[in-house]
Amino acid sequence: MKNLLLIFIFATFSFSSELNTYLSNLKKEATKENPNFKEFNIKRGEGIFTSKHIGKKGKKIACTSCHGIDLTKKSENYFTAKEIEPLSKKVNPTRLTDVKKVKKWLRRNFKDVYNRVGTAQEKGDVLVYILNK
Ligand code: HEC
Repeated sequence: MKNLLLIFIFATFSFSSELNTYLSNLKKEATKENPNFKEFNIKRGEGIFTSKHIGKKGKKIACTSCHGIDLTKKSENYFTAKEIEPLSKKVNPTRLTDVKKVKKWLRRNFKDVYNRVGTAQEKGDVLVYILNK
Protein backbone atom coordinates (compact mmCIF):
# COMPACT_ATOMS: atom_id res chain seq x y z
CA MET A 1 0.00 0.00 0.00
CA LYS A 2 2.70 2.39 1.04
CA ASN A 3 4.69 1.51 -2.09
CA LEU A 4 1.68 2.11 -4.28
CA LEU A 5 1.25 5.53 -2.74
CA LEU A 6 4.90 6.34 -3.36
CA ILE A 7 4.61 5.25 -6.98
CA PHE A 8 1.53 7.41 -7.34
CA ILE A 9 3.30 10.46 -5.88
CA PHE A 10 6.32 9.85 -8.05
CA ALA A 11 4.18 9.48 -11.19
CA THR A 12 2.27 12.67 -10.45
CA PHE A 13 5.46 14.56 -9.80
CA SER A 14 7.25 13.34 -12.91
CA PHE A 15 4.20 14.09 -15.09
CA SER A 16 3.92 17.65 -13.89
CA SER A 17 7.62 18.20 -14.44
CA GLU A 18 7.07 16.81 -17.94
CA LEU A 19 4.61 19.65 -18.53
CA ASN A 20 7.11 22.14 -17.12
CA THR A 21 9.72 20.91 -19.58
CA TYR A 22 7.20 21.31 -22.39
CA LEU A 23 6.38 24.85 -21.26
CA SER A 24 10.03 25.86 -21.09
CA ASN A 25 10.59 24.43 -24.58
CA LEU A 26 7.62 26.45 -25.83
CA LYS A 27 9.15 29.50 -24.19
CA LYS A 28 12.43 29.02 -26.06
CA GLU A 29 10.51 28.57 -29.30
CA ALA A 30 8.37 31.66 -28.62
CA THR A 31 11.51 33.74 -28.05
CA LYS A 32 12.81 32.59 -31.44
CA GLU A 33 9.51 33.51 -33.11
CA ASN A 34 9.39 36.90 -31.38
CA PRO A 35 12.51 38.47 -29.78
CA ASN A 36 10.26 40.76 -27.68
CA PHE A 37 8.53 37.80 -26.08
CA LYS A 38 8.89 37.70 -22.28
CA GLU A 39 6.37 35.50 -20.47
CA PHE A 40 3.25 33.52 -21.23
CA ASN A 41 0.20 35.53 -20.33
CA ILE A 42 -3.09 34.33 -18.83
CA LYS A 43 -5.04 37.28 -20.23
CA ARG A 44 -3.84 36.59 -23.79
CA GLY A 45 -4.63 32.91 -23.16
CA GLU A 46 -8.18 33.86 -22.20
CA GLY A 47 -8.57 35.69 -25.51
CA ILE A 48 -7.31 32.67 -27.42
CA PHE A 49 -9.62 30.33 -25.52
CA THR A 50 -12.82 32.38 -25.60
CA SER A 51 -12.78 34.25 -28.94
CA LYS A 52 -14.72 32.86 -31.90
CA HIS A 53 -13.24 32.16 -35.32
CA ILE A 54 -14.39 30.53 -38.51
CA GLY A 55 -13.12 27.00 -37.99
CA LYS A 56 -14.04 23.43 -38.78
CA LYS A 57 -16.85 23.02 -41.32
CA GLY A 58 -17.05 26.82 -41.66
CA LYS A 59 -18.59 27.15 -38.19
CA LYS A 60 -17.86 30.17 -36.02
CA ILE A 61 -16.55 28.54 -32.85
CA ALA A 62 -14.20 29.04 -29.90
CA CYS A 63 -12.39 26.59 -27.62
CA THR A 64 -15.32 27.22 -25.26
CA SER A 65 -17.75 25.78 -27.85
CA CYS A 66 -16.58 22.33 -26.75
CA HIS A 67 -14.96 22.92 -23.34
CA GLY A 68 -17.43 25.49 -21.97
CA ILE A 69 -16.54 28.70 -20.17
CA ASP A 70 -16.42 27.19 -16.66
CA LEU A 71 -13.55 24.74 -16.90
CA THR A 72 -14.50 23.06 -13.61
CA LYS A 73 -17.69 21.76 -15.26
CA LYS A 74 -18.35 19.02 -17.80
CA SER A 75 -19.29 20.14 -21.26
CA GLU A 76 -20.28 18.85 -24.66
CA ASN A 77 -18.50 18.52 -27.99
CA TYR A 78 -19.96 21.10 -30.39
CA PHE A 79 -19.93 18.69 -33.33
CA THR A 80 -20.61 15.27 -31.80
CA ALA A 81 -22.48 16.26 -28.60
CA LYS A 82 -20.26 13.79 -26.71
CA GLU A 83 -19.61 14.65 -23.10
CA ILE A 84 -16.21 16.20 -22.31
CA GLU A 85 -14.74 16.00 -18.82
CA PRO A 86 -13.69 19.32 -17.22
CA LEU A 87 -10.31 20.74 -18.30
CA SER A 88 -9.57 22.23 -14.88
CA LYS A 89 -6.96 20.40 -12.82
CA LYS A 90 -8.82 21.47 -9.70
CA VAL A 91 -11.54 18.91 -10.38
CA ASN A 92 -9.69 16.70 -12.86
CA PRO A 93 -6.07 16.35 -11.64
CA THR A 94 -4.92 14.19 -14.56
CA ARG A 95 -5.47 17.06 -17.00
CA LEU A 96 -2.31 18.47 -18.64
CA THR A 97 -0.14 15.71 -17.20
CA ASP A 98 0.41 13.70 -20.37
CA VAL A 99 2.38 15.95 -22.72
CA LYS A 100 1.84 13.67 -25.70
CA LYS A 101 -1.90 14.04 -25.24
CA VAL A 102 -1.63 17.80 -24.69
CA LYS A 103 0.37 18.25 -27.91
CA LYS A 104 -1.97 16.05 -29.94
CA TRP A 105 -5.11 17.89 -28.83
CA LEU A 106 -3.65 21.39 -29.07
CA ARG A 107 -2.70 20.61 -32.64
CA ARG A 108 -6.13 19.23 -33.47
CA ASN A 109 -8.13 21.81 -31.55
CA PHE A 110 -6.25 24.84 -32.93
CA LYS A 111 -7.08 23.49 -36.39
CA ASP A 112 -10.74 23.09 -35.35
CA VAL A 113 -11.03 26.70 -34.18
CA TYR A 114 -8.33 28.64 -36.09
CA ASN A 115 -7.91 26.49 -39.21
CA ARG A 116 -4.16 26.40 -38.52
CA VAL A 117 -1.79 25.14 -35.83
CA GLY A 118 -1.04 27.38 -32.87
CA THR A 119 2.26 29.25 -32.48
CA ALA A 120 4.50 28.42 -29.51
CA GLN A 121 3.39 31.63 -27.80
CA GLU A 122 -0.31 30.89 -28.34
CA LYS A 123 0.05 27.35 -27.02
CA GLY A 124 1.91 28.56 -23.92
CA ASP A 125 -0.59 31.38 -23.29
CA VAL A 126 -3.58 29.07 -23.53
CA LEU A 127 -1.92 26.43 -21.32
CA VAL A 128 -1.19 28.91 -18.52
CA TYR A 129 -4.81 30.09 -18.82
CA ILE A 130 -6.12 26.52 -18.42
CA LEU A 131 -3.65 25.81 -15.58
CA ASN A 132 -4.97 28.84 -13.75
CA LYS A 133 -8.60 27.63 -13.94
C1 HEC B 1 -14.63 20.41 -31.52
C2 HEC B 1 -14.51 20.34 -30.07
C3 HEC B 1 -13.29 20.95 -29.41
C4 HEC B 1 -12.83 22.23 -29.56
C5 HEC B 1 -13.39 23.34 -30.40
C6 HEC B 1 -11.68 22.32 -28.70
N1 HEC B 1 -11.45 21.14 -28.04
FE1 HEC B 1 -9.95 20.71 -26.76
N2 HEC B 1 -10.52 18.77 -26.69
C7 HEC B 1 -11.62 18.24 -27.33
C8 HEC B 1 -11.66 16.81 -27.15
C9 HEC B 1 -12.72 15.86 -27.70
C10 HEC B 1 -10.53 16.48 -26.37
C11 HEC B 1 -10.07 15.07 -25.95
C12 HEC B 1 -10.99 14.43 -24.98
C13 HEC B 1 -10.71 14.87 -23.58
O1 HEC B 1 -9.53 14.98 -23.21
O2 HEC B 1 -11.69 15.11 -22.84
C14 HEC B 1 -9.84 17.74 -26.09
C15 HEC B 1 -8.70 17.84 -25.32
C16 HEC B 1 -8.02 19.02 -25.08
C17 HEC B 1 -6.81 19.12 -24.31
C18 HEC B 1 -6.07 17.97 -23.62
C19 HEC B 1 -6.31 18.04 -22.14
C20 HEC B 1 -5.57 16.99 -21.33
O3 HEC B 1 -6.21 16.05 -20.88
O4 HEC B 1 -4.37 17.12 -21.13
C21 HEC B 1 -6.45 20.44 -24.32
C22 HEC B 1 -5.22 21.06 -23.66
C23 HEC B 1 -7.42 21.15 -25.11
N3 HEC B 1 -8.38 20.26 -25.54
C24 HEC B 1 -7.39 22.51 -25.36
C25 HEC B 1 -8.20 23.15 -26.29
C26 HEC B 1 -7.96 24.49 -26.78
C27 HEC B 1 -6.84 25.41 -26.35
C28 HEC B 1 -8.94 24.75 -27.71
C29 HEC B 1 -9.09 25.97 -28.58
C30 HEC B 1 -7.96 26.30 -29.45
C31 HEC B 1 -9.79 23.57 -27.75
N4 HEC B 1 -9.31 22.62 -26.89
C32 HEC B 1 -10.91 23.46 -28.57
C33 HEC B 1 -12.55 18.95 -28.05
C34 HEC B 1 -12.42 20.27 -28.46
